[in-house]
Amino acid sequence: MSVGSDLLIAGIGELVDPGSGGPSDPLAIVRDAFVWIENGRIRARGPMADLPAEAAGAPRLQARGAVALPGLVDSHTHAVFGATREHEFEQRMAGASYQEIAARGGGILFSVRDLRARGEEELVELTRPRIAAFAGHGVTTIEVKSGYGLSTEDELKQLRVVRRLAADPALPRLVPTFLGAHAVPAELARDRAGYVRRVVDEMLPAVAGEGLAAFCDVFCDEGAFTLAESEAILERARELGLGLKIHAEEFANLGGAALAARMGAASADHLVAIDAAGVEALAGSRTVATLLPATSLLLRLRRHAPARALLDAGATVALATDFNPGTSMTQNLLLVMGLGCCLLGLTIAESIRAVTRGGALAVARDDLGTLAPGSAGDVTLFAVPDHRHLAYHLGAHPTLAAIRGGRVIWSAPTSAREAGGDQVN
Ligand code: NIG
Ligand code: FE
Repeated sequence: MSVGSDLLIAGIGELVDPGSGGPSDPLAIVRDAFVWIENGRIRARGPMADLPAEAAGAPRLQARGAVALPGLVDSHTHAVFGATREHEFEQRMAGASYQEIAARGGGILFSVRDLRARGEEELVELTRPRIAAFAGHGVTTIEVKSGYGLSTEDELKQLRVVRRLAADPALPRLVPTFLGAHAVPAELARDRAGYVRRVVDEMLPAVAGEGLAAFCDVFCDEGAFTLAESEAILERARELGLGLKIHAEEFANLGGAALAARMGAASADHLVAIDAAGVEALAGSRTVATLLPATSLLLRLRRHAPARALLDAGATVALATDFNPGTSMTQNLLLVMGLGCCLLGLTIAESIRAVTRGGALAVARDDLGTLAPGSAGDVTLFAVPDHRHLAYHLGAHPTLAAIRGGRVIWSAPTSAREAGGDQVN
């Protein structure tokens, strides 16, 4: 365990803590505020007038009126891959569907062939800058899935890449997830049951044995894995002590959200095609509904996840990028937050909560997504006049500094540092 840093962030214009209150409550905001991080954790926060005398000795970061939030948490990415897939984007924009591209051997299986041909070292170096780029959007924690290996050896390789990058304190925190059940690999196309057995009997014990994943995820959908297959895989993962996640109802409603709720999964993700029973099941559980509006936009789906119904029913909602080379080539969680408002109908407060507290709960980290004393010293500073601009100024790059455990892991070039600028792009 590395010892965290000390830092006093002073002169914050708006301190926004979405960690307190229910999913639809107003945000708790303190003006002219400080956050004091000691040993990598939040020791105190509040108005400058209440700054404890002992905090004066800590290294000081002058926020100059910036807006401070807990470091953003991106709770759904497929960030380890080799080649990008702009050719598929081009095909989709010319009218091809995701399923048509997959049927021609593209899609996930393109990335599988590509990743299998690369070594661990090469993947680490390809992934490092992609991970670092998240911090420029205020993200200090990223969940990262495997699922482009689809053999025991290649899934382990992909997760070892995550482990190596997770050891670097200058990058955002990484939360590793095993997604062996992302697709059936080409060599077993005619033996689905055989592949599911391999995930259950061989891959999961190997992943758990090496401690390579915090979660197991399954792509439960039409064209992917059935509800029964998903349940068998998640059941085994649970026995092995892993947390659970599920890609559910992205294209068709198979009942994956209800399965997630029943099994106590941390999250059910996508949910574009979820039905009323699924909404009710999530609302009655602690499973977070993780919504990925950049994906439905980039896939040009005609519909989006029913965020309002989920929130109104009482479900906890997270927004995430789904960063991957096929369906969501963006690390910009702030953009996704804006899409959460204008595509999904979230309020600004709900969307801010969804990329902080919601994301934290979706990776079962109660110490993230909040600025409460005792929580992780992850803070992001934004050069905006007030927090509403974070959703309003779509596609802007207002991040001044991303702080992980009291250590600045990203800061804006000096030219962009004048806080309060709606001109910052
Ligand atoms: O979350 N839905 C399945 N998996 C990814 C897509 C991965 C890919 O196309 O490479 C997703 O959108
Ligand atoms: Fe995904």
